[in-house]
Amino acid sequence: MEATSSSLPFWLVLCLCLSSRSWWVAGDDPYRFFTWSVTYGDIYPLGVKQQGILIDGQFPGPQIEAVTNDNLIVNVFNNLTEPFLISWNGIQQRKNSWEDGVYGTNCPILPGQNFTYVMQVKDQIGSYFYFPSIDFHKAAGGFGGIRVLSRPLIPVPYPPPAGDFTLLTGDWFKTNHTDLKAIVDSGNDLPFPDGLLINGEGANGYAFTVDQGKTYRFRISNVGLVTSVNIRFQGHTMKLVEVEGSHTVQNTYSSLDVHLGQSCSVLVTADQPAQDYFIVVSTRFTDPILMTTAVLHYSDSIEVPATPLPGGPTVEVDWSLNQARSFRLNLTASGPRPNPQGSYHYGEVNVTRTIRLANSATIINGKQRYAVNSVSFIPADTPLKIADFYNITGVFTLDSIPDHPTYAGGYLQTSVMAAKFRDYVEIIFENDEDLVQSWHIDGNSFFVVGMDGGQWTPASRHSYNLHDTVSRCTVQVYPRSWTVIYMPLDNVGMWNVRSENWVRRYLGQQFYLRVYSRANSWRDEYPIPKNALLCGLASGRRTRPL
Ligand SMILES: *[C@@H]1O[C@H](CO)[C@@H](O)[C@H](O)[C@H]1NC(C)=O
Ligand SMILES: *[C@@H]1O[C@H](CO)[C@@H](O)[C@H](O)[C@H]1NC(C)=O
Ligand SMILES: *[C@@H]1O[C@H](CO)[C@@H](O)[C@H](O)[C@H]1NC(C)=O
Ligand SMILES: *[C@@H]1O[C@H](CO)[C@@H](O)[C@H](O)[C@H]1NC(C)=O
Ligand SMILES: *[C@@H]1O[C@H](CO)[C@@H](O)[C@H](O)[C@H]1NC(C)=O
Ligand SMILES: *[C@@H]1O[C@H](CO)[C@@H](O)[C@H](O)[C@H]1NC(C)=O
Repeated sequence: MEATSSSLPFWLVLCLCLSSRSWWVAGDDPYRFFTWSVTYGDIYPLGVKQQGILIDGQFPGPQIEAVTNDNLIVNVFNNLTEPFLISWNGIQQRKNSWEDGVYGTNCPILPGQNFTYVMQVKDQIGSYFYFPSIDFHKAAGGFGGIRVLSRPLIPVPYPPPAGDFTLLTGDWFKTNHTDLKAIVDSGNDLPFPDGLLINGEGANGYAFTVDQGKTYRFRISNVGLVTSVNIRFQGHTMKLVEVEGSHTVQNTYSSLDVHLGQSCSVLVTADQPAQDYFIVVSTRFTDPILMTTAVLHYSDSIEVPATPLPGGPTVEVDWSLNQARSFRLNLTASGPRPNPQGSYHYGEVNVTRTIRLANSATIINGKQRYAVNSVSFIPADTPLKIADFYNITGVFTLDSIPDHPTYAGGYLQTSVMAAKFRDYVEIIFENDEDLVQSWHIDGNSFFVVGMDGGQWTPASRHSYNLHDTVSRCTVQVYPRSWTVIYMPLDNVGMWNVRSENWVRRYLGQQFYLRVYSRANSWRDEYPIPKNALLCGLASGRRTRPL
C-alpha cells in the first residue's frame, strides 16, 4: 500500500515541535508512505509448495519507486511468528544508521508488532533491493526491488526507455528457511541450491512483454544466497548503463556476471524478428551448473521461444575479471546532482588509512565458521548502535578486529572496527580461498580501483584505475585474488561490512565499521529515532529526554 504526499504526517510534525531542531526532515522533499504487512503464504517457485515470506501478499515483494531525496516512510507490520527485520541493500541512510535494519543497528520487530522506517534517499540514484536481514528469512522471500530515479531536471545519459523492468534473480532452495538455519547451526554447509528463480518463478515462468523496435531498461539484482550468476538475452545484446548508482560508459555485452548482492541496469532493444526469446540465467563457478529462463515476449508474437539456449561462461575467472574491469564511470554524465560524476577526483584524494581484510573458513568448537582477519562475528543481544548510544558497556569493544590479516586460527568476537569521520580509506580484500567472494558495505559507496589474481603487494598500486572506475556498494573478489576499493568515510554511523554469501555472513564473515565524529553533533548524525525499538540491555530506556 503506498500513498504519496508532500505534507508531513501528524507524528512527524509532533517530533518537529518537540525537538528544537529540524533534524532529518529535509525541507520540501516529498514523502512516500508504505504500510507493509509481512505474512507467511504458500508459494510454488520450483513447482513444490513452500511457505514463503510475503510482503503485502506478494512474492517477490512490492517495488519501491522513489526519486532522489525522497523521504520513504515504511511501516512494517510483522505478522510472522518470529522476529523480523528488513534491510535496504544500497540505500545509504545518510547520517542515519538507525534505519539500516540489520541486527547491529536495530532491534527486531517482534511478532504482532510494527516498526516505521523513516529514510531519505539523499543524493542517490540507481537500482537496489530490500531483503529480510535476520537468520535465513531471505531464503523464503521477503525481498523486492528499489529504484531511485533522477530528479526531473537532471539529465540522464540515454533516452527514456519504453519500459523499466525489475529482474530479481538468484539461487533457491526447496528446504525451508528454518531447516536451512538448522543445517548451518549444526556446523554444516548448505547443500547445493535446487534451482534459480527470476522474479519468483522457475524455468519459463516469468515473461517480460516488449514492443518490437523499442528499448527497455532491465534492473537486475542477484538476490540469491550462495552463487554468482550470469545473465543473457537470446538474440539480443545488453547495453550497460548503471551499476549501483553510477552511470557507466555504455558498453555492449552479450552476457553479464552479477555476483551476490549486486545490482546493475542494462538497456535491451527489441530489434529482432517478432517472436519470443529466452532470457537465461545460470550459475557461475559451480559444478554442476544451474540454469533457468524467463521469456522476452514480443507483444505481437505467437511463437514460443526456440532452443538452443544461448550459452554463457561457466567456470572461467579471467573472462569475469576482464568484464569487471571494463565497467567504467561516464565522467561527463550527471549523477544524482547536476554536476558531472567525474568532478569528484577520487584518485587524487590522499589515502589516510589502509585496511586489509582476508576472509577464511575455520572450524571453531567443532563447527564450521567463517572469519575476517581471523575474527568470526557473533551478534550481541543488544544492537551495537543502540548500546553505543546509551553507553552500555560489555556489548562490544572497539577495535575488536585487526586492520590486517593475522593468519592465526579463528576466534569468535562481536567485532567492531573504529574509524574516523572524513578518513579516506583504502580497503584491500584478500581472498586466499577457491571461492568467489562478494562484499557489501552498508551506508557507503566506494570506488573499485583494482582487482587481480594472486597476492596483493604495495606494487599492485601501480595497476589501480585512479581515473574512471565505478562507485558502487557491493564488489566481488575472485578466487585466490584481491580487490581494492577507495572509500570516503563521509557517513557517521555503525555500518555492516558483510559477505553477501548468506551462509558465510551468518557464520561470521562480517563485522561493523563504526564511523565516529568527535563533534557528536546532529549535523553529522541524526539522533535516535523517537520510535526506535529497544531490546536487550537497552530495554526500557527512553529515546527522548522527558
Ligand atoms: C498484521 O498485523 C496487524 C497488527 O498486528 C494487523 O492489524 C493486520 O490485520 C495483520 N495483517 C494481516 C494480513 O494479517
Ligand atoms: C506502528 O504503527 C503505528 C500506526 O499504525 C505508528 O503510529 C507507530 O509509530 C508504529 N510503531 C513504530 C515503532 O514505528
Ligand atoms: C520447515 O519445515 C519443517 C519440516 O521439515 C517444519 O517442521 C517447519 O515448521 C518448517 N518451517 C517453516 C517456517 O515453514
Ligand atoms: C556519457 O554521458 C554523456 C552525457 O553527459 C553522453 O552524451 C555520452 O553519450 C555518454 N558516453 C558514453 C560513452 O556512454
Ligand atoms: C597529498 O599528500 C601530498 C604529500 O603528502 C601533499 O603534497 C598533497 O598536497 C596532498 N593532497 C591533498 C589533496 O591533500
Ligand atoms: C554517552 O557518553 C557520552 C560521552 O561521555 C555523552 O556525551 C552522552 O550524553 C552519553 N549518552 C547517554 C545516552 O547517556
